[in-house]
Amino acid sequence: MVIPMADIQNIFNKFLENKPIFANRQVLTISFTPREIPHRDEQTNELGRILAPALKGGRPSNIFIYGRTGTGKTCLAKMVTSELEKAAHINGFNVKTLYINCKMKKSADTEYRLLAGLSREFGYDVPFTGLPTDQIYNIFFKALDSESQTVILIIDEIDTLVQKTGDEILYNLTRINEDLKNSRLTIIGITNNLDFIEKLDPRVRSSLSEEEIVFPPYNAIQLQDILRQRAEIAFMPNVLEDGVIEKCAALAAQEHGDARRALDLLRVAGEIAERKLKSKVSIEDIDAAEDKIDVDRIIEVVKSQPKQSQAVLWSILNLEKRYIETSDILDKYKEICVKNGLKQLTSRRISDLINELVLFGILNSKVVSRGRYGRTKLISLNINNETEEKLKKMLGQIFLC
Ligand SMILES: Nc1ncnc2c1ncn2[C@@H]1O[C@H](COP(=O)(O)OP(=O)(O)OP(=O)(O)O)[C@@H](O)[C@H]1O
Ligand SMILES: [Mg+2]
Repeated sequence: MVIPMADIQNIFNKFLENKPIFANRQVLTISFTPREIPHRDEQTNELGRILAPALKGGRPSNIFIYGRTGTGKTCLAKMVTSELEKAAHINGFNVKTLYINCKMKKSADTEYRLLAGLSREFGYDVPFTGLPTDQIYNIFFKALDSESQTVILIIDEIDTLVQKTGDEILYNLTRINEDLKNSRLTIIGITNNLDFIEKLDPRVRSSLSEEEIVFPPYNAIQLQDILRQRAEIAFMPNVLEDGVIEKCAALAAQEHGDARRALDLLRVAGEIAERKLKSKVSIEDIDAAEDKIDVDRIIEVVKSQPKQSQAVLWSILNLEKRYIETSDILDKYKEICVKNGLKQLTSRRISDLINELVLFGILNSKVVSRGRYGRTKLISLNINNETEEKLKKMLGQIFLC
């Protein structure tokens, strides 16, 4: 179907004529760093108190920060260290903060990459690969100790680093102060993986968590405050109908008090209202936003999975059955591997991949009794029709069925 040019112009005109909903949409995205962080006074004071020795050229203790997703860990650590740098500068001391997010691919998937990236932050020119590990350590050490300074290294999503590279690197980093002559290194490790610290090597654990700060989830009232503060800058006056902020806060509070989720709901609801050319954001827009965010999240998770995991999911989607036995999945998977020239993994590995998809909330699994035939595991999809269609479309572009 060809849409006539006049109709397209009409769509644009309607959009332009409509009164804008947003005054500054970016305020509701993750790229925005708020100046004030309400309901985190205790954590702000605690972090400030621990880091304060850097203002007189001392070495603050290493700090381990943990709390569930969206509880303000990253934004608070960045805000406090940036204020610390400023205050130290005024006091005539040199404080430098390095921030690394270990979930970001390429920055921290090997010890080499991490140390090379950090050395580059000090202006050292390091090749992207090729040097032996002890040499890259020496370069980083030299860079760090090149002047009198306190370096605060924020290792965000630190559990991912250990998963990818082991804990040797943390062991070495926490010992580095013993050899530094001019500088001092303080590590702030951040994670939302609450069992991570339990599993860590006790030697690393004790040096990494000289101090610990816990970020509890926000409750609905606290989330309302956070949302109101942002909404004031993000939206045009009076575009939010009564109850909109309260509903976003209530939904996010049900889901472990996640401020990111609350802000996302509000932004996406605004975008939906804008697309519908409405002049106000209403409660129904939040319901629609919730669905959209869930679909987008699953699509993103599947996109980031290795090809073999996608092939397993593609097999399940192609079986078109409500409850599926693992043996059926294996048969379909083999067929798909042949058609797509993929190496076939063992059934053990396939089982692991299925379990991962269950953990992501994309599949459900239940064990049922088959009387004298024993017990069997049944797998089913745990997504709505819209998500299923989108996944089929996306994976259909990767695989032949
Ligand atoms: N108290 C607060 N006031 C204002 N905005 C906040 C507050 N807490 C969190 N936010 C906002 O919520 C979003 C999530 O916060 P942040 O990234 O700091 O969470 P996190 O604890 O690091 O989560 P994760 O463990 O998933 O990385 C950000 O956009 C941040 O600006
Ligand atoms: Mg974070």
